[in-house]
Amino acid sequence: MNTVDALPTTMSANTSHRYGPPAMLQWSTVDRPEPGEGRVLVKVHASSVNPLDWHSLTGTPWIVRGQSGLRRPKSPLLGTDVAGVVVAVGPGVTELSVGDEVFGGSSGAFAEFATSKATSLALKPPSLGFEQAAALPIAAVTALQALRDKGKVGAGSRVLINGASGGVGTFAVQIAVAMGAHVTAVCSGGNVEMVRGLGAHEVIDYTSSDFVAAVTQAGGVDVFVDCIGNRSIRQSRRVLRTRGVYVVVGGPKKGRVLGPMSRLMKAAVVFAFSRQKAAPLLASLSTEQLTELAKMVEEGTLAPVIDRTYPMSQAKEALEYLGTGRVKGKVVLTADR
Ligand SMILES: NC(=O)c1ccc[n+]([C@@H]2O[C@H](COP(=O)([O-])OP(=O)(O)OC[C@H]3O[C@@H](n4cnc5c(N)ncnc54)[C@H](OP(=O)(O)O)[C@@H]3O)[C@@H](O)[C@H]2O)c1
Repeated sequence: MNTVDALPTTMSANTSHRYGPPAMLQWSTVDRPEPGEGRVLVKVHASSVNPLDWHSLTGTPWIVRGQSGLRRPKSPLLGTDVAGVVVAVGPGVTELSVGDEVFGGSSGAFAEFATSKATSLALKPPSLGFEQAAALPIAAVTALQALRDKGKVGAGSRVLINGASGGVGTFAVQIAVAMGAHVTAVCSGGNVEMVRGLGAHEVIDYTSSDFVAAVTQAGGVDVFVDCIGNRSIRQSRRVLRTRGVYVVVGGPKKGRVLGPMSRLMKAAVVFAFSRQKAAPLLASLSTEQLTELAKMVEEGTLAPVIDRTYPMSQAKEALEYLGTGRVKGKVVLTADR
């Protein structure tokens, strides 16, 4: 008997058969997935919620339906970030074995079991808890790719992070500091001390100061990592030094059809004839980068900020909280063990 045969054929999972708000999610019994070519089956110990899950659940902006299904979701399962134990491997997988503790990206992680591409997972260091590991994948990899791959941040770079108190922002502040950058962070008054505690050199409270004016007057920055997109492209460009890079990570939820895509198109026009650059980011998970982030956590240069933890069966409540836009760091889901 192989390992898959020893597993239950059904599992509990958060499911939704139509696009809509988190209230539509149901904790139900479904068939356990099988790991296909190049994939492994993970027993989920923890997951975390991301705006991506919100978009997949609600089917907004409509452009996401190109991937997830035009009229209704192709799969009723939800959830990307995962941390757990490999319980079966599909054909062609050589990197991982049954019993490995892993974290990374998956399909349908808000469930008892999920399948993942082996190349989207990394081994979880024993010193890292499953909850900490589950907080990392999308948000921390996005922060790393924004700063290193798009921004080319190095020691002495001046970096501005808008949305510094959110999932991506809390990682971006710490990673930029670890890279030796001088970090200016933007958040609301209640989060100033938390963000300062992450190592930001300067923190601007957006409820009482205009960060574009303040940063421009202070001489500008080399890299602007924008997780919020609440200022016009022209205003955003003003904070950049002559060869500065505007890294477009997130944008406002408005825009039913294209969402943040329309902002990217505007950025392409505004930056067309400039020595400054607009760099849109679409993050993708890799074993190498996940391993690097886990090493930073082990070494103490990176620590996930976990705002709230919910049981897996309460993904609905976790997504409702994420939808308020007020999350500090990450919201984690834990499996019953
Ligand atoms: N491009 C990619 O590959 C990629 C990957 C991941 C995420 N994203 C996008 O990046 C964005 C951020 O993701 P996330 O996971 O960090 O979201 P998040 O955790 O939900 O962000 C919430 C945070 O945003 C802060 N915030 C809200 N309005 C603000 C404002 N006007 N100015 C400054 N901060 C503000 C909130 O702080 P207050 O309560 O203090 O306002 C809260 O701490 C989203 O749009 C997401 O879709 C893109």
